[in-house]
Amino acid sequence: MKAVVLSRFGGPEELRPAEVDTPEPGPGQVRVRVRAVGVNPFDVKVRSGAMESVFPTPLPTVLGSEIAGVVDAVGPDVAGPAVGDEVFGWSDTGAYAEYALASTVARKPEGLSWERAVALPVAAETTDRALGLLGVRPGETLLVHGAAGGVGTVAVQLAVAAGLRVVGTAGPDNQAHVAALGATPTTYGEGLVERVRALAPEGVDAVFDVAGKGALPDSIELRGGTDRIVTIADNAAAELGVVFTGGPARRSAERLAELADLAARGALTPVVGATFPLVDAAEAHRASAAGHARGKLVLTVP
Ligand SMILES: NC(=O)c1ccc[n+]([C@@H]2O[C@H](COP(=O)([O-])OP(=O)(O)OC[C@H]3O[C@@H](n4cnc5c(N)ncnc54)[C@H](OP(=O)(O)O)[C@@H]3O)[C@@H](O)[C@H]2O)c1
Repeated sequence: MKAVVLSRFGGPEELRPAEVDTPEPGPGQVRVRVRAVGVNPFDVKVRSGAMESVFPTPLPTVLGSEIAGVVDAVGPDVAGPAVGDEVFGWSDTGAYAEYALASTVARKPEGLSWERAVALPVAAETTDRALGLLGVRPGETLLVHGAAGGVGTVAVQLAVAAGLRVVGTAGPDNQAHVAALGATPTTYGEGLVERVRALAPEGVDAVFDVAGKGALPDSIELRGGTDRIVTIADNAAAELGVVFTGGPARRSAERLAELADLAARGALTPVVGATFPLVDAAEAHRASAAGHARGKLVLTVP
């Protein structure tokens, strides 16, 4: 099968299309003919070698962990998915490929595109984990740093659906985009504390830092301490005494099914920032590294 293989850590050019063996499903696994793959900043960090101290990756490898596609083979002891089912979820093996093995998938609703479906697993799981740690309750005000990206667009919508009032930060070009997701938008950078105080004079009850771009000191000032602040991306967290959650991801087929239902009913709209053919994975990594994706970057597999 065709895949995009990483044989050496380095720049995007190290992502090279190649022929590799098609994987065979083991117990509990299905094989999915992949139609769309989510590209995550995590993939970019692994590719560069930056994750080696915390997440060593043997090479060669195929990156990627979220897929949408059609089940084309079923291993032993699989209850549920059958050959021909259109599914989305988590891949057990590298996703930047024509075929991937998976043990946690759910049916993709008919009206939900491959690209939109694949924008959900990582973003929603990360949001669930962070909001769980924050212990948010309906009626509270949540500040989300990085509301316009792959995780942020889903985080805002799930938080609003949970009855929270959300103030979300983004660049000037993404203010209307963040407002359309249901948040009160504001820009990041200099003067953030004053802008948030003007928008939420009664204060913010919790902070979800998705961006990891240095907004923790402002968050601490707004909260009056480190309580109820969670970051998924700021390496200064430990030094500042802020909770960092880095997983492991809680993969759940039941949760995927709930997300599919929300999306099918129009209660959750996955946002796709841009799509790239699988062979252009390097371009997708350049776009991700630029740091201004509006929603999820997606590889499509013809
Ligand atoms: N720990 C975990 O479990 C976990 C899980 C998933 C992701 N992550 C990490 O979380 C981070 C975000 O992931 P993602 O998929 O959402 O990334 P992404 O889609 O690449 O995020 C891009 C977004 O970041 C926004 N942004 C850029 N600079 C910003 C700033 N200074 N303040 C606020 N927003 C800013 C951009 O908005 P504008 O274009 O408007 O500037 C853009 O919408 C990554 O570092 C990723 O590795 C961690």
